[in-house]
Amino acid sequence: MLNLNTKIIGRKIIYLQEVDSTNEFAKGIAPQEEEGTVIVADIQTKGKGRKLRVWSSPKGGLWMSIILKPNVHPKHLTKLVFISALAVVETLAEFGIESKIKWPNDVLVGGKKICGILSEGKYSENRVEYVILGLGINVNNELPKELKDTATSIREVLGFEVPLIDVFKKLIGKLDKEYLQYLKGNYEEILGRWKMYSAIIGKRVRIITDDGEIAGVAIDIDENGALILKQNNGVLERIYYGDVSLRFS
Ligand code: ATP
Ligand code: BTN
Repeated sequence: MLNLNTKIIGRKIIYLQEVDSTNEFAKGIAPQEEEGTVIVADIQTKGKGRKLRVWSSPKGGLWMSIILKPNVHPKHLTKLVFISALAVVETLAEFGIESKIKWPNDVLVGGKKICGILSEGKYSENRVEYVILGLGINVNNELPKELKDTATSIREVLGFEVPLIDVFKKLIGKLDKEYLQYLKGNYEEILGRWKMYSAIIGKRVRIITDDGEIAGVAIDIDENGALILKQNNGVLERIYYGDVSLRFS
C-alpha cells in the first residue's frame, strides 16, 4: 500500500496514533523483532532527547524509531547516527531545504534545529544485540514558545505544509540506501559525505562535558566519528560521541 520497496528499513511498519516514546516502544519489542522494523507515531506523550531531555512531539511532526541488528563491531555504532543525519539532509534537500549537520546528533536549517536523532542500543564488548535509531523531524507541528529561537520546522521554512507521508516515504528510502552502504563497510564514503554537510568543521566551538568545558576549533571527524578539536593552546583533543554538548563560540 505504501509501496516502499526497500531492502531492510521499512519491511515492517508499526503505526501508532499515540505512544509515550517510539524509542521506548521499540526497545520493548526489539529482542524478538526482525531488523528494519519502523515504529512511527502521530503523537509522543513522553518524547525524549539525549540526557532524558524532553522532546516536544505534538501532531504534525515525524516521530519514528528503527530497530536495527547490524552484524558489526560495536565501535562502528556511532556511524549509524551519521547515516541517519545524512538521510535527513538528503530528504530535506528533496523538499528544497538546505540543511547542515551539527555533530553529534542534530540537523539544522539556518542555525535552528529541525531534527534530532537519539540512538540507543544493547551490545556487549564485541557483539551488537540491537540498536534503536530514533528520529524526530519537525514537519507541520507547532513548536513550543520556548523553542521558537532555537528550533524550526519544514512548514516554517517553506511557508506551507507538506504531507507527512511524503516526508516519511522519502526518508525511509534514503535511510535504507544509507544503511546498505553502512553494512558494506563503506565508512570512508559515508564520513566524506557527512563532512560536506557539517556545520562545525572549521568553526570555533565549545565542548561541554560533566567535567568542564574545552574550547577550540573543530578541525575534523576521525574514522570512528570522534571530533578532533584544536584547542587554543594548539593541542589536539579527540572528543568521543557520548553525553557531550557542542556550542558554537
Ligand atoms: P546538545 O548540544 O547537548 O546536544 P541540544 O539542545 O541539541 O544540546 P539534545 O539533548 O540533543 O540537546 O536535544 C534535546 C533538546 O532539543 C531539548 O533540550 C530542547 O531544547 C530541544 N527540543 C525539544 N523538542 C524539540 C523539537 N521538537 N524540535 C527542536 N528542538 C527540540
Ligand atoms: C535529541 O536531539 O536529543 C534527540 C531527539 C530525538 C527525538 C526522537 S522522536 C522519535 C524518537 N522517540 C523519542 O522519544 N525520541 C526520538
